[in-house]
Amino acid sequence: MKNATILFVFIFIAVLFTNCSTKSEEYIDPRGTDYAGSESCIQCHKAEYEMASKSSHFKATAPAIPENILGDFDSRNHTFMYDKDTKLVMEKRGDSLYQVLYKNGKEVQAHRFEIVFGAKHAQTSVYWKEGNTYELPVSFYHSINNWATSPGFPADKPYFDRMIMKDCYACHSSNISSRTVNQNSTERNFMSMEVEDIINKKTIVYGIDCERCHGPAKQHAEFHLKNPNVKTANSITSFKTLSREQRLDACALCHAGNDGMKLKSRFDFKPGDKLSEFFRETKSINDTAKFDVHGNQFRLMAQSKCFIKSEKMDCITCHNPHENASKNMASYSKICMSCHQGLKHNDTTLKTMPEKLLADNCVECHMPKKASGAIKFQLSNSKQLSNYILRTHKIGIYPMTK
Ligand code: HEC
Ligand code: HEC
Ligand code: HEC
Ligand code: HEC
Ligand code: HEC
Ligand code: HEC
Ligand code: HEC
Repeated sequence: MKNATILFVFIFIAVLFTNCSTKSEEYIDPRGTDYAGSESCIQCHKAEYEMASKSSHFKATAPAIPENILGDFDSRNHTFMYDKDTKLVMEKRGDSLYQVLYKNGKEVQAHRFEIVFGAKHAQTSVYWKEGNTYELPVSFYHSINNWATSPGFPADKPYFDRMIMKDCYACHSSNISSRTVNQNSTERNFMSMEVEDIINKKTIVYGIDCERCHGPAKQHAEFHLKNPNVKTANSITSFKTLSREQRLDACALCHAGNDGMKLKSRFDFKPGDKLSEFFRETKSINDTAKFDVHGNQFRLMAQSKCFIKSEKMDCITCHNPHENASKNMASYSKICMSCHQGLKHNDTTLKTMPEKLLADNCVECHMPKKASGAIKFQLSNSKQLSNYILRTHKIGIYPMTK
């Protein structure tokens, strides 16, 4: 009898444990039970997954493990001098990387890289302090292959207090939740109305993943797992059924600048939604309005005659949403020519470049590279601001340089 009870207890515990372990293996998405997570898409959409997982979208934010961090930590280029006595050094300590501030050779502050933003042209990083993230004062730039001030940061003195708000994550990640607290409530100062967003570390979904663009897809995945013979998509929004405006809005959500008046969180956007329900635009789109080449591809493109007159151009005309922008400039020329057959340039233009060469270089002249007005940076020991250069999406006729 006693043995039977012990056996029963053992079986009970064993069952309890196996249940626990299967539960903990099951993927739980911080966004809730409607989400399946990108990994679950691989089994049926291998091609899309392999492309997208290598894209800048997937790397728009990432944990700051050494493999994800750009820039030099050991040799020549790892020091930023503020003045002769004050320097910031990028240092590897164990498995972690730090920006360490030294004054007269003595360590004053050290902050650990926790989350990285970006990979293509530049990468900035943040550290955690009291439930919030703060930008590290020095970032990495590919154009100079070196460290320089984070955008807007001073080059003559270190600054560690720029809080990175939820807004940045809303364009650079797939989720992060926050709660708003009264900053001084702990001090019982109820007169103060200062509020602060406390973000929740555990709820980050790094990068821009499948479901950030396609919407929650758990039901879709489960349906197709149960019904392998069904070959038409179930329980998912198809971009093919969306209007041009809806397709554009799905990209403009993050590629149309950040100066609209916010009505709803970007995280609530699903494909098919109207952007006008999320933002009230404060700046008119007339063709003389100036938009920055950084972060505002949509409004620049919307000022082009190609966009206005063709009535069909959208982002997918030139970009595969699962891949980075092609670096092959001739591949864009083919797309231009699909609408501009029989094109003739005048003799003056043809003198600067023969027709054959011109045919592969449409974007060099009509979408030239421009310096961002919003982002500039400063190198160590330099008094000058360096430019951050991107290609404009305002397709047009530009004065010929050379
Ligand atoms: C068990 C298989 C299965 C899984 C898992 C699955 N899908 Fe699908 N999905 C399909 C099938 C089948 C179709 C329809 C045929 C096609 O377009 O490939 C489809 C189509 C789609 C489409 C195109 C819709 C259209 O009509 O344009 C999207 C987008 C999509 N899936 C996204 C996802 C995402 C995101 C995930 C992961 C969260 C996912 N799928 C997981 C089977 C699956
Ligand atoms: C949730 C915000 C978000 C959405 C939605 C979004 N993007 Fe992006 N996109 C970004 C961010 C952030 C980057 C920069 C990522 C980086 O370099 O780290 C980016 C980068 C890109 C790039 C450059 C990638 C490279 O390395 O060449 C292209 C092209 C692009 N997006 C096109 C699109 C298109 C097309 C859509 C719509 C189908 C879209 N994006 C939707 C945020 C978004
Ligand atoms: C930046 C936004 C974005 C991301 C991230 C993204 N997709 Fe897509 N996806 C799109 C758009 C836009 C289309 C429609 C393309 C078209 O109609 O040409 C699409 C189309 C598809 C299709 C339909 C097949 C096709 O090519 O028309 C499938 C399947 C799909 N995506 C799966 C995925 C999976 C799986 C992931 C993650 C590994 C993913 N997508 C990530 C924007 C995105
Ligand atoms: C409105 C959406 C949006 C917001 C808000 C936003 N970004 Fe971005 N960010 C983008 C897009 C889109 C790109 C890539 C294309 C470009 O530069 O135009 C980008 C590029 C970057 C890059 C360079 C990435 C690369 O691979 O070259 C960094 C670093 C970056 N952002 C950091 C931040 C930080 C930090 C914040 C908050 C202070 C922020 N972003 C806020 C949309 C946004
Ligand atoms: C979807 C079709 C379409 C595509 C793709 C397209 N265009 Fe256009 N583009 C047009 C139309 C339509 C006009 C207006 C013609 C008119 O006014 O009669 C135009 C006008 C122009 C103009 C004159 C602009 C001005 O301000 O006077 C230039 C230059 C131009 N396109 C270059 C390009 C280049 C370069 C590409 C590729 C990067 C391209 N287009 C892709 C449809 C397109
Ligand atoms: C007419 C073709 C065309 C259209 C339409 C187009 N792009 Fe691009 N896009 C380009 C070219 C060309 C580049 C530059 C590639 C390079 O220089 O390596 C580019 C680069 C980018 C980049 C990377 C910026 C950089 O300099 O690295 C982003 C982000 C981007 N596009 C987003 C978008 C979004 C969002 C839309 C829709 C609003 C869009 N594009 C529509 C042609 C186009
Ligand atoms: C060397 C620079 C250069 C290159 C490369 C170039 N263009 Fe142009 N393009 C110009 C200039 C300058 C003008 C205005 C004077 C003219 O018409 O020659 C122009 C005019 C145009 C116009 C307006 C014509 C009109 O009648 O209004 C279109 C459309 C156009 N280009 C498309 C293209 C396309 C498509 C390509 C690639 C096949 C291309 N361009 C390559 C410099 C260039």
